Amino acid sequence: TKEEMENRVHDIKKRLGNRLYIPGHHYQREEVIQFSDSTGDSLQLAQLSAQNREADYIVFCGVHFMAETADILTEEGQTVILPDMRAGCSMADMADIEQTERAWIKLQDLFGDTILPLTYVNSTAAIKAFVGKNGGATVTSSNAQGMVSWALAQKERILFLPDQHLGRNTAFDLGIPLNEMAVWDPHKDELIYEGELEDLKVLLWKGHCSVHENFTTANIETLRAEQPEMNIIVHPECRREVVALSDYAGSTSYIIKMIESAEPGSSWAIGTEMNLVKRLIANNPDKNIISLNPNMCPCLTMNRIDLPHLLWALESIEEGIIINPIKVEKSIADNAILALNRMLERV
Ligand code: 13P
Ligand code: SF4
Repeated sequence: TKEEMENRVHDIKKRLGNRLYIPGHHYQREEVIQFSDSTGDSLQLAQLSAQNREADYIVFCGVHFMAETADILTEEGQTVILPDMRAGCSMADMADIEQTERAWIKLQDLFGDTILPLTYVNSTAAIKAFVGKNGGATVTSSNAQGMVSWALAQKERILFLPDQHLGRNTAFDLGIPLNEMAVWDPHKDELIYEGELEDLKVLLWKGHCSVHENFTTANIETLRAEQPEMNIIVHPECRREVVALSDYAGSTSYIIKMIESAEPGSSWAIGTEMNLVKRLIANNPDKNIISLNPNMCPCLTMNRIDLPHLLWALESIEEGIIINPIKVEKSIADNAILALNRMLERV
């Protein structure tokens, strides 16, 4: 039963003490997050992994790229475990390294040595390594503005991987007009743009988050007509048009802070992952909170980490046959850490 499984997780946590560390992303299920030692957004979890030097086992409750990042930032003797290997991220999978290297050659032909690559942390370790090797950095949704400004102070233009929406929303907020942005289509190997080639400053990889793309301008129009008192707050992984029509946009931590500090009695429609929205509803009974899209589902891959998988991972530690260790190859990790450190030094 659920209760038995919960008791076993409690017992293992007690026995392992500080040798075990369980970070949990805000999009994780409640049945898992109740056992996490720290919760956070992707930036906070990366920082916490870099700081933790005492745990032998880091059981990462999040998705594959986050566990890879934790492995890169921890030390040799620390083992990172992902309770279910199927917990990937469809956005991270939208940029593979072969496509990226091909794109880089073509873009260098077009623009010479004027481009700095940046990658959202929601990307594979191989992409982070590519970016690190070429002088660029990682970015998260909570530091994207600062990182894009930093990059544009180094080079005339950036290549932003793999989320076109976070890239476009961030650049737009920095005052870069849409006609100075282009989209690189990795399937057609082609740059799509409307303005002048030489004016392009921001080259966006054609990737997106399949969860946040489900929020639409139609959702906002319906809500404005039916419940005009609602404040609308969305994650910058949503499309530009959706962010433009919203009242507020920001990272997962920003959304949490805004809701927690909102006036009692205020009304909020939130455009982000459903496990988090449900938790915000439960933790803020004095506010009226709904999802911006009434048909929204949780992120399917985040959801793969459930109580049975968490327990399985923990039991495997005690049995000494560790399941799903995440180990990034050294040649990749050595370059990926350059990109991560350029970010961590600046936040
Ligand atoms: P943040 O945690 O940076 O807000 O990212 C959201 C996300 O989609 C994580 O997968
Ligand atoms: Fe990937 Fe989107 Fe799920 Fe985050 S919410 S893990 S970006 S698919």
